[in-house]
Amino acid sequence: MSANALYTDLSGYYDLMCADINYPAQSNGVRRLHQLFGNQGRRHLDLACGTGPHIRHFIDFGYDSCGLDINQPMLDRARQRCPEALFTRQDMASFEFDHPFDLITCFLYSIHYSAGIDKLEACIKRAHNALTQNGVLCFNAVDKNRINNNLYVSHTTEHDDSSFTFRSGWHYCGQGDQQSLKLSIAKTTLEVTESWQDEHAMVALGFDDFDRLLRRYFDVHIFEHDYEKIIPWDGVSGNALFVCVKT
Ligand SMILES: C[S@@+](CC[C@H](N)C(=O)[O-])C[C@H]1O[C@@H](n2cnc3c(N)ncnc32)[C@H](O)[C@@H]1O
Repeated sequence: MSANALYTDLSGYYDLMCADINYPAQSNGVRRLHQLFGNQGRRHLDLACGTGPHIRHFIDFGYDSCGLDINQPMLDRARQRCPEALFTRQDMASFEFDHPFDLITCFLYSIHYSAGIDKLEACIKRAHNALTQNGVLCFNAVDKNRINNNLYVSHTTEHDDSSFTFRSGWHYCGQGDQQSLKLSIAKTTLEVTESWQDEHAMVALGFDDFDRLLRRYFDVHIFEHDYEKIIPWDGVSGNALFVCVKT
């Protein structure tokens, strides 16, 4: 299934699926990184913004935020959550705006939705062009060489007399530049369970490849994937936060 079809199906369940994500901590962590590395400007763009949970926080921090996503139903929900923001339906590999930004974010590994290394580089180039001097691109990523195919995250939540269990995990076959995200949803109502499975392809890189690619455009800082502390990446963890400064 394509990412677009997937998120059309998921848009009604998306916020439920993400109920255990600490969006305030993620947004505040990136706000602090931007304060440390950026130019103090307030124009913000969130790539692959989904239903706009981070944008809500950035607006509340005093940013002037825009969001883009390829999926219209996700954007419709984002608009309801953040009527102050501008949302447009665009592909992050080819986006255009008529003004620059001081901070561009891309959360929840969404940069991996770039369909292949060429599209990823196109997205990085677009972000570089769209940033002001000392503007920051910040995203999280997973290293293909450190994916544990047996690891899943799972949570259960109640909604409208039903119980939902969401499960997701990365899978990398060990070669090439594609990994997949496996998702499953089980909905139980009155002891009847319906389940839904999806696996879709995403771009796969090692952190050394990410670093090489980003350094063509940016000053690059890699941190541990911890939004509450600013700790340099230890060279071992499979998830990290990338802070890329346009100099
Ligand atoms: C995992 S969701 C993340 C949403 C949001 N950033 C969050 O943290 O909740 C991934 C989002 O990426 C969007 N997406 C996938 N491919 C895209 C592309 N090429 N350009 C823009 N958005 C894309 C999907 O529509 C979906 O809303």
